[in-house]
Amino acid sequence: MTKGEKIVLITGCSRGLGKAAAEAFIARGARVAGCARSESAIDELASRHGNRHRFRALDVTDDGAVADFCDEIVTDLGPPDLVLNNAALINPGAPLWEVSAEDFDRVIDVNLKGVTNVIRHVLPPMIERGSGVIVNFSSGWGRSTSPEVAPYCCTKWGIEGLTAALAQELPPGLAAVALNPGIIDTDMLRSCFGESAGAYGDATDWAGRAVPFLDVLGPEDNGRALSAP
Ligand SMILES: NC(=O)c1ccc[n+]([C@@H]2O[C@H](COP(=O)([O-])OP(=O)(O)OC[C@H]3O[C@@H](n4cnc5c(N)ncnc54)[C@H](OP(=O)(O)O)[C@@H]3O)[C@@H](O)[C@H]2O)c1
Repeated sequence: MTKGEKIVLITGCSRGLGKAAAEAFIARGARVAGCARSESAIDELASRHGNRHRFRALDVTDDGAVADFCDEIVTDLGPPDLVLNNAALINPGAPLWEVSAEDFDRVIDVNLKGVTNVIRHVLPPMIERGSGVIVNFSSGWGRSTSPEVAPYCCTKWGIEGLTAALAQELPPGLAAVALNPGIIDTDMLRSCFGESAGAYGDATDWAGRAVPFLDVLGPEDNGRALSAP
């Protein structure tokens, strides 16, 4: 079980892997701070889990909103022990030359700039305390490629590089890792695979395996490119 009052920040907790991880960490006794854009999903999490936790509707591409939320977390709960940079989008499948500038921008903005916004505001208090782990969600498509998902591949390969470089910058006691979560039946997978996504396990099963694995990451893992069990 999670030791003491572990503080876990999870972006993209309204559905999919982020929501399942939030529920699993709460069940293990952690205090969770979570965000996503959907106000109704955030309100539902906040009313169900009460004020030991912090849930906020925000867009991770809004650097000011991320800064305010990180301030609130650090003031009310303390610097996170674990950060799951999970929020991401995938482009509508198309050859790269047919991807609109708007669709390309959205994927870059959420998957790379959103992750960096969180790191920019949450890491300084973690460094000041001298401990904590940042998990940046990558993908199989951060280590291999397929046609029609070049924008998404570009961001997830970018997450691998960003995380490896960040790991070289961190002081002792902290860690940054990239995580390939595997293939899980979520809204994102259904947008790529359609009904055949149903052949894969669901997010709750995933969290049952992945959360105990994430819960024990520590400074010795700094710089690793991990795959969830
Ligand atoms: N499912 C898989 O098989 C798979 C495989 C490899 C990697 N991954 C990675 O695992 C992570 C989770 O994927 P998933 O399958 O759970 O995706 P999902 O079902 O589409 O959920 C994505 C989450 O991110 C949030 N989000 C999206 N844009 C956001 C923004 N601008 N600001 C704040 N929150 C935002 C969404 O909430 P709102 O819409 O409410 O904002 C939602 O909670 C992603 O990083 C994904 O790339 C998944």
